[in-house]
Amino acid sequence: MKNLFLIAVFALVSHVTVSAQALTPIEELGKNIFFDRLSAGPPRQACASCHHPSAGWTGGIAGINIHGAVYPGAEPRAFGNRKPPSSAYATFSPNFYFDSDTGEFIGGNLWDGRATGWLRGSPTADQALGPFAADVEQNISLQKVCMKIQASKYAMLFEQVWGPGSLDCTDSGYLYTGDRIAWSIAAYEASAEVIPFSSRFDDYWRVCLNAGNDAEACGKAEGDKAVLDPDNLLTEQEFEGLVQFGEYCSACHVSHEPGPDGLPPVFSSHEFDNIGVPRNPENPVYEYDPGFVDLGLGGFLDTADEWAHLARLNDGKMKIPTVRNVAAGLGEGFTRSYMHNGVFKSLEQVVHFYNTRDVPEAGWPPPEVEANVNRELFEGVPLGDLQLPAEDEAAIVAFLATLTDRVAPGKPIGVIAPRAVPR
Ligand code: HEC
Ligand code: HEC
Repeated sequence: MKNLFLIAVFALVSHVTVSAQALTPIEELGKNIFFDRLSAGPPRQACASCHHPSAGWTGGIAGINIHGAVYPGAEPRAFGNRKPPSSAYATFSPNFYFDSDTGEFIGGNLWDGRATGWLRGSPTADQALGPFAADVEQNISLQKVCMKIQASKYAMLFEQVWGPGSLDCTDSGYLYTGDRIAWSIAAYEASAEVIPFSSRFDDYWRVCLNAGNDAEACGKAEGDKAVLDPDNLLTEQEFEGLVQFGEYCSACHVSHEPGPDGLPPVFSSHEFDNIGVPRNPENPVYEYDPGFVDLGLGGFLDTADEWAHLARLNDGKMKIPTVRNVAAGLGEGFTRSYMHNGVFKSLEQVVHFYNTRDVPEAGWPPPEVEANVNRELFEGVPLGDLQLPAEDEAAIVAFLATLTDRVAPGKPIGVIAPRAVPR
């Protein structure tokens, strides 16, 4: 079983080619690093092993997604215990901070916000070196990564971007080189190739604003379709889905406020919440820690002196992920997983969960963390008992599929689509 899996990871990444895009040199460098199988291995893994462009920059192996959803690191027994979130659109998250007005934490990267941005002024740059240090991910020390890059085909590009002598892997130099590696990866993750805003929703959004409507109306479909969508870019069902999304989802997955610099919405408020997701019984963590509970933000706050006293108020809260590209790669037998532990296997299931979590007859298992579950009112009904008919659930799912970025024709990011691979 394991062997099959190893082959799958290897096959997937080895077929990803680096294609010519209009990238700046530093972005191109970051891309080379992102797709390079730098881990000690076997299996030699790249960032793309767990953040595959064709799967919306999350795990690209269906055989893993349908079960534990946790991607094993290069050290075979050292599984992490969370599902890879999308690495795209993560660059929009601000540095982690506490908003004393609202009493809420905001920003950072990772499900618990612990890539804070305090080291390098960017959560994504802070996160970029994490996998090289963490056993559960790429299992290789930063100095060895540095030396692998020295020996790579893109070593010259590195010195072109950062200057002669910048690829210094000596004991006294590699940490500085590490920062350059981090910034290069972060630059690629912030490039127009990774965050193109090229979905059908984005077309609708731009046309809607250009037609003189305001962001709130466009992002929640508040008004006549003919006025908001004069070019008829969304189907009736997708538009109806946006109406529902605006009412029940946009408070967290913000669809009605422009992103930074007038970009379309990012679909996250960058806050944290406990929406009562059940545990994933197939999470490999239970094999060695049967009582494991993922406290999310609360667990991280326990390690931060100034905020440890707020930890229990934040147990079970996870970073609100963007829902951009949640439908990417679906179809033809490819399955994805959703939530921090990958317990859900389809968007239908996700939407049905929000609609019926607290309806006893629906039979959902209890939340992984009972504390702080959000039962806030939306349009007068509580999250978890939205009382939506089946057709509204289907409309929301249809809407989510409009959030898939389209890759420019003839310019694939990876040449093979993710496949269903038996485990
Ligand atoms: C073995 C699988 C694996 C590999 C390899 C991997 N990641 Fe991840 N990545 C994850 C998991 C799991 C998380 C979430 C971890 C957590 O929340 O504790 C994550 C989180 C992230 C995030 C945060 C996204 C967000 O919205 O918070 C970014 C960005 C990211 N990874 C980039 C990278 C980069 C860059 C590399 C290569 C240097 C990489 N990853 C390699 C599994 C992986
Ligand atoms: C109160 C805030 C909140 C609201 C409202 C909300 N979500 Fe979420 N959403 C979250 C959080 C937090 C997570 C991650 C939870 C976890 O992993 O435990 C999440 C996760 C998701 C995911 C999984 C994404 C991934 O990468 O795994 C999808 C899809 C999603 N939400 C869709 C929706 C839809 C559709 C609605 C409206 C019916 C909605 N959400 C309403 C906070 C919210």
